[in-house]
Amino acid sequence: MNTSKNILITGSSSGIGAKIAEKLSSSGHNVFLTGRNEERLIKLAVEIKAKGFLAGCLLEEDFPVKLFNNACKQMGHVDVLINNAGAYLWSSVEKTSKENIEKILNLNLRVPYELCTLVVPYMKKNKWGRIINIGSISGTVGEANASLYSTGKAGLIGLTKSLALELAEYGITVNVINPGWVKTGLTDECIQSGNINEQEQLDMIPQKRWIEPQEIADLTKYLISDSAQGITGQSLNLCAGLSLG
Ligand SMILES: NC(=O)c1ccc[n+]([C@@H]2O[C@H](COP(=O)([O-])OP(=O)(O)OC[C@H]3O[C@@H](n4cnc5c(N)ncnc54)[C@H](OP(=O)(O)O)[C@@H]3O)[C@@H](O)[C@H]2O)c1
Repeated sequence: MNTSKNILITGSSSGIGAKIAEKLSSSGHNVFLTGRNEERLIKLAVEIKAKGFLAGCLLEEDFPVKLFNNACKQMGHVDVLINNAGAYLWSSVEKTSKENIEKILNLNLRVPYELCTLVVPYMKKNKWGRIINIGSISGTVGEANASLYSTGKAGLIGLTKSLALELAEYGITVNVINPGWVKTGLTDECIQSGNINEQEQLDMIPQKRWIEPQEIADLTKYLISDSAQGITGQSLNLCAGLSLG
């Protein structure tokens, strides 16, 4: 195994982010959690022996910097950034409000970019770093009535490729994992609101199953290992075949 790394994971209070945190902490790494729900963060931090956490909204102007400073205070520095926090919006283009345009693009694209600006200086100095963005199949193949979500997630692929090129000579890899449908709070909300039908959705997936958060955590663990140092700038679809059409 790698030596222990210091890892900041956004959106780690639930779903995919919580599973990634659990996996990486149990593999001997120091993890720093964040999300808005403080109660869940406290519970998870104790359960998985996280190095620390900070509750807050990433859409608040000062929060990304505050988060980064807190993570550094607790761990010394950040070796690995996992940009996982995100929100989905089901809306036809003409019904999409200006507030939602700002909110979804900020959370799903601007904040990941800003966090990259904060973690890269130390990674460059240390000649080692890993940035993993959690995208979506919607960013690779498009999704009707989710154009805003798709736009942000497609942007993460551009960010990943450009940063991978820019940072390659510093021993920093940058990759994006694009999950298909995963049964988390995000998906449950879509089902409950009637925007997607659970059975119809499953029928559309070639493997006829949801992706498990554990599968994304396992891939994340591999991508931060030294065995994966040659994998950079890649957009990796983990989708049970959904992206195949
Ligand atoms: N589920 C899927 O089918 C699926 C498919 C493809 C990609 N993804 C992507 O996977 C990532 C994780 O999603 P998930 O399925 O695990 O959903 P989830 O269970 O709803 O988790 C979302 C996480 O993001 C955090 N978050 C949301 N808005 C935030 C804000 N304004 N400020 C700070 N934190 C915020 C949430 O924290 P709080 O709840 O504490 O606020 C939570 O920890 C997202 O980027 C999503 O787009 C999911």
